[in-house]
Amino acid sequence: MSPAKQSHCKLVLLVALLCAARGAIAAEPAREPVVEMGIDAGHPGARIHREVFGQFAEHLGGGIYGGIWVGRNSSIPNVRGIRSDVVAALRALKVPDVRWPGGCFADEYHWRDGVGPAGQRRATVNTNWGDVPESNAFGSDEFMDFLQQIGSQPYLSVNVGSGSVREAADWLAYLTAPTTTAAGRERAANGHPAPYRVPYLGLGNESWGCGGALSPDFYVNEMRRFSRFVHNYNPAQRGPQAMQRIAVGADGASTDYLQSVMQAWHDKVWSWDIEGVSLHYYSSAGWPPAHPSQHFGEDEYALLLADTLRMERLIRTQTALMDRYDPQRKVALVVDEWGTWLAPLPGSNPGFLMQQNSLRDALLAALNLNIFARHAERVRMANIAQMINVLQAMVLTDGPRLVLTPTYHVFRMYVPFQDASLLPVSLQPGRYVKGALRLPQVDGIAAREADGRIAVALVNLDPARAIAVRIHLDHGRIGAVRAEQLTAPQVDAVNTFSDPTAVVPRALAASAADAALRVVLAPKSVSVLQFESLEHGGKR
Ligand code: AHR
Repeated sequence: MSPAKQSHCKLVLLVALLCAARGAIAAEPAREPVVEMGIDAGHPGARIHREVFGQFAEHLGGGIYGGIWVGRNSSIPNVRGIRSDVVAALRALKVPDVRWPGGCFADEYHWRDGVGPAGQRRATVNTNWGDVPESNAFGSDEFMDFLQQIGSQPYLSVNVGSGSVREAADWLAYLTAPTTTAAGRERAANGHPAPYRVPYLGLGNESWGCGGALSPDFYVNEMRRFSRFVHNYNPAQRGPQAMQRIAVGADGASTDYLQSVMQAWHDKVWSWDIEGVSLHYYSSAGWPPAHPSQHFGEDEYALLLADTLRMERLIRTQTALMDRYDPQRKVALVVDEWGTWLAPLPGSNPGFLMQQNSLRDALLAALNLNIFARHAERVRMANIAQMINVLQAMVLTDGPRLVLTPTYHVFRMYVPFQDASLLPVSLQPGRYVKGALRLPQVDGIAAREADGRIAVALVNLDPARAIAVRIHLDHGRIGAVRAEQLTAPQVDAVNTFSDPTAVVPRALAASAADAALRVVLAPKSVSVLQFESLEHGGKR
């Protein structure tokens, strides 16, 4: 073939190849819109304290009895009365702390009813939650045993409402004093010679409401006495390990308690202190809670997500208030009750606060965790309400059966964020519009883990439109990637005892090309990615 013919043939071949390639592109389904996410990996910010992933377990409905405690003689497999399937499930969450015994229950709890030989416990009535009998079979030592089994720590709420400073002081002595004291000897006689660790102590619960409806000034006077006289004697809890005391703060947007507590803290004398102040905010979109937890549509989905996004504004406002008295941010904002509070399940005891847990709860949990992370400098602890069988639970049980909820899966996916350092990100959130509601389409955070890997969490709120995110680092390359995504065909999809895997995370394909990583967020999904960040030249 002559050189002229040869080059003609090459051209024809090239054109044919190009045409084939264009045809292939044209035949691909339309690609999702792409949003850019820039991560400033060189400037790690505040630590996302692992306590932000804390839980709350109250003597309420099946929260303790049936959910944790089945008794030593139960046919449900247990270790010293504590059900083993629940322990195994919770261990995977690396639960940093559990708030107990309440809630409203705490302000009527008398710890002595729940210690000593099982046959001699004093039965009482749970007046807050359905007037049901309270056997007190699950008390302080059982709670500590449960924590030891799941690998967690106690956040005790002492009884300020109907108890006394002396009763609370005696409780802490029972738990933490050496066996040279009467209190320590009593604990040893009950099988626990070594003092327990009590890292967190709540000084009352909702003292503006079920905790006694105390005026802010009255509460502050009481709180100062509890702070001063309730001692932790554990020698291992000196200095930086000292017990942190958390005062009652805001009821949602009502900040009169927060204001009084912070003012008192600012003017305090040497003899008392607090390390945190609480915020309670439930996503219920109205009161009393009437929105269903199952069998709902997009209107209800968008409404609850919009309601939960208020958390960011509440934290911002309360942080600003706290900054006025505490510019160095010594006092933590502790969101020790948050989550969905929905209509009780039809046919259930309304005092038991039983609700289903759907894909919507999963997105809502992720949005809140992202908000807490963004405010990591001030929000250093949070406790979702509640761990088992109550409100936005991790686990639902029914006799011997157990199911993990979509919220459980989010907490498991977010484990890499525990104690990671927040990284600044730039991300255009886009819009998801439903009726009069205008929400961001995408919400995301990034953090550097202790081992140097980067974790990214992304929520796509839009129930109908997928979106691609191109993640890039300010410098360095992206190495090996691991990614999971939680979604389901419907916004109200739930896991049930007969179909426990309807909403579970699945591996997510993520393609990395040098400094950028492309991932497609399915509609109504939560995604968590972990990747190595490599310096140019290949080193971590
Ligand atoms: O979590 C249920 C209840 O909600 C708690 O007992 C109380 O503190 C709050 O009002």
